[in-house]
Amino acid sequence: MSQSGQILPHGRVLRYELHERLTHWTAAFSYIYLLLTGLAFYTPWLFWIAIALGGGQISRMLHPWAGLIFFLAVMKMYSMWAAQMRTTETDKAWWGAVGHYARNEDDKMPPAGRYNAGQKLLFWGFFWCSLLLLLTGAVLWFPEFIPWNLRFLRYTAVVIHPAAALLTIGLFLIHIYMSVFAERGAFGSVIRGDVSVEFAKRYHPGWYKEIVGESSTPRK
Ligand code: HEM
Repeated sequence: MSQSGQILPHGRVLRYELHERLTHWTAAFSYIYLLLTGLAFYTPWLFWIAIALGGGQISRMLHPWAGLIFFLAVMKMYSMWAAQMRTTETDKAWWGAVGHYARNEDDKMPPAGRYNAGQKLLFWGFFWCSLLLLLTGAVLWFPEFIPWNLRFLRYTAVVIHPAAALLTIGLFLIHIYMSVFAERGAFGSVIRGDVSVEFAKRYHPGWYKEIVGESSTPRK
């Protein structure tokens, strides 16, 4: 079976294995549903979104279940990628040089591994926000189980749940911009799984070195 980092017969590099892509799209589709229904509950101005998605009651019923699916997908991402998302010295240098990154001067950047420091920030941001969203969402889902003397938990949940959701919206917009528009070739990696060798060399030189150095024993 092909493994991430393996050079495929047609000369491209496998970036995401099938199970990684399936997990990613489970997170992505459940998140988009949560985002749309969550916005509809947030303000009456956007309630039309819930109507368009089948009605207020259906949206209110499905939102927490989609939340559970999203949470499980993010936990699966954690089990697959957390070890590769640890901050390294290169990441600290990467943030110091982020101005070059913004100007597309990739050759002046410290060599990112499979993930650059920005991608790691996105990953941990989604990870911690999904935990917050689950905990506060559970309180909002079953408020009747919160004893009256612990009612501060309800008030806290009402504030933290949308605050964490807003944070994820910021992360999500940056993620879409960076992965679909800024880094040409990245989108194919979550569809077909592979990227060109040039892509690996340009955006993830540290990863590229591992690939060419260890292509006979591919790195997980
Ligand atoms: C329509 C929605 C989305 C699109 C089009 C999209 C696109 C992409 C692309 C193209 C990549 C590969 C980037 C690369 O390896 O260079 C990627 C990776 C990734 N995506 Fe998404 N994504 C979407 C939604 C989400 C959501 C909701 C999450 C939240 C958990 C997420 C989390 C990640 C993570 C953690 C990675 C690996 C690290 C990274 O590249 O930032 N994605 N996505």
